[in-house]
Amino acid sequence: MRRRIAILCVLAMLAAMAGCGTGDTAPTIRVGVALYQQDDTFIDTVTRDLQRLALEEEQDRNIKINLNIADGRGSQTVQNEQVDRFLDRGYDVICVNIVDRTAAAVIIDKAQAADVPVIFFNREPVVEDLRRWEHAYYVGLPAGDAGRLQGNIVLDAWRAPDSTLDRNGDGILQYVMLEGEPGHQDTLLRTENSIRTLVEGGVSTEKLASDSADWQRGQAGVQMHRWLVEFGPAVEVVFSNNDDMALGAIDACLEAGMTEEELPFIVGVDATPPALEALAAGTLQGTVRNDAAGQAAGIMALVCALTAGEDPAKAVELTDGNYVWLQYTAITRKDLTEAEP
Ligand code: GAL
Ligand code: CA
Repeated sequence: MRRRIAILCVLAMLAAMAGCGTGDTAPTIRVGVALYQQDDTFIDTVTRDLQRLALEEEQDRNIKINLNIADGRGSQTVQNEQVDRFLDRGYDVICVNIVDRTAAAVIIDKAQAADVPVIFFNREPVVEDLRRWEHAYYVGLPAGDAGRLQGNIVLDAWRAPDSTLDRNGDGILQYVMLEGEPGHQDTLLRTENSIRTLVEGGVSTEKLASDSADWQRGQAGVQMHRWLVEFGPAVEVVFSNNDDMALGAIDACLEAGMTEEELPFIVGVDATPPALEALAAGTLQGTVRNDAAGQAAGIMALVCALTAGEDPAKAVELTDGNYVWLQYTAITRKDLTEAEP
């Protein structure tokens, strides 16, 4: 690591002395980015932000940043091979959106052996693994907060004086839950904390049904269609672990011929551009911003600091040595003007 940093620093100095731009002689940083699944809407947003920031850093620092993006296609085996390839080819840093959060130890040990810093993001490795090496980092958001904020959006709507949430007037909130990937930390904590927030707020809840739709709009649409057939207007609230699935639920309702007034109260997480459009259109009632740009900025700041031999703690706010935490924010229609990208 130290030798690599020293080489990059010398190259940067030589480039600066020669007074050249990001031409052929500019030092090149090679960054391997391993995604759990490239066609995931939110992950795609983080990737695009990373590409944009890499271009900005190239200009600012007079360097070249080669981002090599690899799609793990939902397989830890495939992702491990991709990481091996990055290390074999002598990449300077690897960024990993890990498929299976319990599989980080192997990657960290290999990265340490090769002396290449590893930055995990969005899917949090278990803490014991991250602690194995000082140059293993995690950039992300505290998973449980999204559920609490989502629960609060529904709680506020339930308590509003003109609330129409309790459609059948039985004083109980009937809901369905669209869950993300089974076993994913975001799935578990968002599901649990959203309902807990309502229960702690004194609301009686009744779960009509819940199922995984794997973060995906299409699968959620199919699921919601089934629930509409089974429960009809008895569904008062649709909790969705992310926006893509909330949009799938909206698709199913609209396809079933529901008017905007007839839609259940539907909430998601992420604040993706199409979700913000649905919020403006009045079909989605709330979402929780998942900070894609903040994650990309945290990753890029670490990449630049680590390869330039700078102290990472000066480039980002590090908690417990290895963590860069960003925060979720709740968004309803009234926040929209500020929230719009
Ligand atoms: C979550 C996000 C989901 C999905 C998932 C992948 O944070 O809300 O939409 O992208 O990460 O790990
Ligand atoms: Ca009710």
